[in-house]
Amino acid sequence: GFRGQITLDGPSGTGKSSVARAVATRLGAAYLDTGAMYRAATVAVLDAGIDPEDAEAVAAVVAAARIEVGTAADTELVQVDGVDVAVRIRGAEVTRAVSAVSAVPAVRRRLVDQQRALVAAADAVVVEGRDIGTVVLPDATLKVYLTAAPEARAERRAAQLGLTTPEEVAALAVDLRRRDEYDSSRADSPLRPAADAMIVDSTDLDRQGVVDRVVELAQSAV
Ligand code: C5P
Repeated sequence: GFRGQITLDGPSGTGKSSVARAVATRLGAAYLDTGAMYRAATVAVLDAGIDPEDAEAVAAVVAAARIEVGTAADTELVQVDGVDVAVRIRGAEVTRAVSAVSAVPAVRRRLVDQQRALVAAADAVVVEGRDIGTVVLPDATLKVYLTAAPEARAERRAAQLGLTTPEEVAALAVDLRRRDEYDSSRADSPLRPAADAMIVDSTDLDRQGVVDRVVELAQSAV
């Protein structure tokens, strides 16, 4: 079987999570959703009642929070201080605030340390996020950067959330763009492909097509 590390980075709405889980299952690998960790940190910030843009306060709250995530592809375990937040982290309130929280360097340092420790415990692992190939695992076996046209991403995300009206889809496209701009322009670990990443464009591929492509790349990388 496959042994090694696969990084899957890219903007939101590319189908990254479902691809990463499916690839991990196919390869019998562990799976780590680093976005879930930044979202869990955001829950701690919101519950503390502080402004997500107040970097110092955010750093203090996140330093004190116990954030736990599972590494199995078929479960979604996400906890903050022992409380299950797996559903809450997908909500609009968290989605709105997460980019500000994840732009704080102290938050990133803390979560990156935790990510590396979780990865070190696995023989084979698929890790998804924004900076995995560039910062977290620069020596990964295979680095994939998943892209898709903005319209395709907005439609995919809308379908996931069950949104159907043109107004809802348009609002979602605005939110995706705002988050990607925030994530791409921050000083610490901005969203960008690693120099040695394989770019996979999912605009005209269905999920199975993308999964097959990544598995193929993984098998030829070892
Ligand atoms: O992947 P997901 O949409 O759940 O990520 C939520 C947010 O977490 C991203 O918009 C980004 O701000 C942040 N993130 C990050 N670095 C990662 C993963 C996620 O900054 N490795």
